[in-house]
Amino acid sequence: MNGINGYRLGASGIIITFFTIITATVLLPMVLFNPTKTTSANAYKDTPYNQVADPERGRRIYVREGCVYCHTQFTRLQDRGYGPLVKAGDYVSETPHQLGTARTGPDLTNEGGRMASEWQKAHLVQPRALKPGSIMPSFSFLTDRDMNDLVAYLQTLGNGRKVTTYVQAPDEYEKFLANRKVDTASDAAANAGRGIYTQNCAVCHGLEGRGNGPNSITLEKKPANFTRAFYKQYPDAFWFYRVREGVPGTRMPHFGEILSEEQMWYLVAYLKTLPKDQEEVINDISQLNEVTPAVKLPRLTNQVYEPSTGGAHSGGEEHGTEGPNGEDPGNQPQGNTPGEYVPSKAAPPPETAPAPAGGH
Ligand code: HEC
Ligand code: HEC
Repeated sequence: MNGINGYRLGASGIIITFFTIITATVLLPMVLFNPTKTTSANAYKDTPYNQVADPERGRRIYVREGCVYCHTQFTRLQDRGYGPLVKAGDYVSETPHQLGTARTGPDLTNEGGRMASEWQKAHLVQPRALKPGSIMPSFSFLTDRDMNDLVAYLQTLGNGRKVTTYVQAPDEYEKFLANRKVDTASDAAANAGRGIYTQNCAVCHGLEGRGNGPNSITLEKKPANFTRAFYKQYPDAFWFYRVREGVPGTRMPHFGEILSEEQMWYLVAYLKTLPKDQEEVINDISQLNEVTPAVKLPRLTNQVYEPSTGGAHSGGEEHGTEGPNGEDPGNQPQGNTPGEYVPSKAAPPPETAPAPAGGH
């Protein structure tokens, strides 16, 4: 085989590989992936808004103004607060689709009905009047008609999805919910969940669920703080979903692999009982400058804080100085007589010079 033939073989190999990949990843899906239209798709005709404006025209303005550069229209499994999940069939009649790729602003999949139309208008005219610090540009240059149609379009978004709650687990979780054998509203279940929580969750989420467990320090994406008021809206199925599958992109484990279904429902019962309105909110200017009283540290002496082993230790002066909480740290049960304070007899006389280095 001469050099030219080898070259041809190589070239045709590359070309065949290229077209195989394109066929498999682009052409075949284009032909074979053909979802049927769902009832949850956005509808722009015969909506209540058609009486006052034209949502279909509003959609064209949405496309024209490039809202898609900052706003997506799809909800993903890891989203919270964006409403029900979308299905492929929702987009069958969306041309050009407005899926988007960047979420500079929030996802607008289920925006319809979230805000009053007057709010939407005022926001489009001057976003910062309603959302201080917003980087959304003002669209005040739109004519009245354009503005009305655009707002009508925003109000139809997601209406076919019937938003009942802004957090929803995937459909299969309705089955888990129906088949659960634990009453998630009962105290007994919450109590059972508490133990499981302490053992499995407190390292990250903290004993009180504030997201400040010792392990949270090492995590870039911090564990959830369950005392936020936001979690009041969580339905049982969503709690269960999160515990079972974790949160993509975070170190939250998939407890579906570790705990039984029953244990996870106990956890749900417990998580629901955590107080949800104790998030620290500053609602008064005086709170901003509040000076917390400094923690009073104990006087530094060569005092022994370790439990003493009877008379055999070689620490310094043991009592006389009070611990941080006002209790005498030396006043601990010692030696062989539990519950009784035994002053250490072998303690050397109090030193006047600072303790030698390498002491405690
Ligand atoms: C440069 C990026 C950018 C563009 C372009 C943009 N937005 Fe926004 N949008 C944002 C940001 C950031 C927010 C969040 C802050 C706020 O509410 O103002 C937002 C918020 C919103 C909200 C409020 C959502 C909610 O429920 O809180 C709506 C509605 C909205 N945008 C609609 C639009 C429409 C319609 C267009 C096109 C005419 C548009 N945006 C163009 C960045 C953008
Ligand atoms: C390794 C640390 C870690 C452990 C252990 C852990 N979590 Fe998490 N958890 C996280 C992180 C990180 C997140 C993500 C927070 C976020 O997305 O804002 C999270 C999120 C969650 C969420 C979702 C909150 C939301 O906003 O939707 C729930 C529910 C949850 N954890 C429950 C539990 C329960 C119950 C346990 C114990 C069985 C547990 N976690 C154990 C780290 C942990």
